[in-house]
Amino acid sequence: MKKLTKAVFPVAGMGSRFLPATKASPKEMMPIVDKPLIQYAVEEAVAAGVTDLVFITGRSKRAIEDHFDKAYELETELEARGKDALLKIVRDTVPSGVNCIYIRQPEALGLGHAVLCAAPVVGDDPFAVLLADDLLDGAGSGPIMKQMVDVFDYHRCSVLGVMNVPREQTGSYGIVSTERDSGEVQRVTGIVEKPNPKDAPTTQAVVGRYILTGSIFEHLRRIEPGAGGELQLTDGIASLLREEAVLAHQFKGVRYDCGSKLGYLQATLELGLKHPEVGEAFAAYLSSRDLRAKPAPKAA
Ligand code: UTP
Repeated sequence: MKKLTKAVFPVAGMGSRFLPATKASPKEMMPIVDKPLIQYAVEEAVAAGVTDLVFITGRSKRAIEDHFDKAYELETELEARGKDALLKIVRDTVPSGVNCIYIRQPEALGLGHAVLCAAPVVGDDPFAVLLADDLLDGAGSGPIMKQMVDVFDYHRCSVLGVMNVPREQTGSYGIVSTERDSGEVQRVTGIVEKPNPKDAPTTQAVVGRYILTGSIFEHLRRIEPGAGGELQLTDGIASLLREEAVLAHQFKGVRYDCGSKLGYLQATLELGLKHPEVGEAFAAYLSSRDLRAKPAPKAA
């Protein structure tokens, strides 16, 4: 099986939980401090050896294409003003040797359908899927997708990024059953989309990181729409694992659900505190402020 060099970024969802912010601009362009969510995901993929970035886009997603395109006017202006550090930031959004490919999902028919839209470009090759609204911080253990590629390189089969969630939250995730109860890498024996807490087989939830073999496409073509009338990637994987090994990898790191307002605020706080430019000042501000007190202090 070939080396993994392709990653699919489904960015065609409605982002309705962030309206009105997402009325005319993509959820994936919302920044955590100073970098859009999609750029965190792209950097994670590139750090894992990915060279072909396949974006599945939809209505109001042009800003993503512009973000990863060359910005001639801006670059010329920054160059003329001698703003070299900023120029480097603008130029580095896509490292050299990395290709961006855009495919339009005509209608938001579900994550499974979005991934299926990548079939003509991905072909039979194994590929990664990254959902940019799940922001994963590998901290000391390195980027999460790199951890998963290491598992893939060893076992040569599909790998799902999983983490334990509180039982009352199983209805928000795809939940896997595995051969054993513990262990960093486990063989998946079943997967269900958004089970009720009382019916959930385990509390191991798939978060937005997948490595899939090219055979997933024939399974996605075969399945019927599932939960919410959408073509579910989870159902495609349930079909795939009847024919091929699929592994669950308990990655090391922290996940922020930036598709929800609370997770987005948590990510902003934590990454703000770590930010090289403003982290210290932000920490000082927070400790000067009685966080139990509701009214914000007057701006300086
Ligand atoms: P979500 O379930 O978070 O949906 O999709 P959403 O539409 O983006 O957000 P809300 O729930 O309306 O606020 C998970 C991921 O799958 C992509 C989304 O862009 C997101 O990254 N997706 C979902 C598609 O690309 N196409 C679809 O048809 C559905």
